[in-house]
Parts: sequence; C-alpha cells; structure tokens
Amino acid sequence: MATERTLSIVKPDGVANGHIGHMISIFEAAGLTIKAAKLVRLTKAQAEGFYAEHAGRGFFGELVEFMTSGPVVLMCLEGENAIAKNRELMGATDPAQAAEGTIRKLYAESKGRNTAHGSDSPASAERELKYFFSEAFELVG
Ligand code: CMP
Repeated sequence: MATERTLSIVKPDGVANGHIGHMISIFEAAGLTIKAAKLVRLTKAQAEGFYAEHAGRGFFGELVEFMTSGPVVLMCLEGENAIAKNRELMGATDPAQAAEGTIRKLYAESKGRNTAHGSDSPASAERELKYFFSEAFELVG
C-alpha cells in the first residue's frame, strides 16, 4: 500500500455544530496525519470551481449555496491508503446509507448537508489539494 495525500473538508454544518475536533480525532486515530489545515469561508466562485464536475446537475446550486453558507476546514491528510481510508471514515454520501460509527452517520443531516468531503481518487486528490493549497508554502513535508 502506498502513502497517499487526500483533501478533507469539514463542511459548514460540521464547523457550525462543533465537530471539527472530533473529526480530526477520528482521522488521527485511524493513522492519518494532517499535513496542512485552514479555516476559510469559500466564495461562490471558489465553490463553483471546486465542484465544476457537478455543474449542470440538479443539486449544483444548492451545493454551492451550502458550501458558502459558513466557514469550512480544509485539510490535507496523509497516510497509507489515505484516499480510501478517509472515505471509509466519512461513510456513504447519503447518511441514511452510511455505516455505524462513520462521520456522516454520526453527524450528517442529508446528502446535501453531509458534514465531510473527501477526494474520491488519486487524480481528484491531486487536483483538489492544488486547488486549495500551495505546495511551496502550505503543505508540510
Ligand atoms: P461531496 O463528497 O462533497 O461531493 C459532491 C457533493 O454533492 C456530495 O458530497 C453531496 O454533498 C452533494 N450531492 C450529491 N448528490 C446530491 C443530491 N442528490 N442532492 C444534494 N446534494 C448532493
């Protein structure tokens, strides 16, 4: 298994409901290391660009509105198999389908307000980390 990096987002509901600390604990307990982190309020343009692959889908407007509704925490997680591990810790996109003990099962309200984001492939992870972090100044190590 390879050491990977992936983008994790604590979405506005996770920040507003006070779950940043527990989510970081879940990642660290699973052996993932935080290589970069920042709390930011995304602009409409930033959220639209980040989710560009979903432009045109019925939920796109709602998704952008939600992701800009309050601050989010952006993190670079690193570890063995980090992309899949993060997705396992988050649980399914729809909290109704998420396994017990996962972040979305614990905290998410709906498919839209689903508390966490994680890159879904190595290519996405590379694009998403570059989208939010500068290699030279913000990524540790
Ligand atoms: P995320 O992992 O951030 O990537 C795309 C997001 O689109 C996804 O999480 C969901 O929050 C959102 N999404 C996907 N399908 C729907 C849907 N049917 N209705 C509302 N939001 C959705």
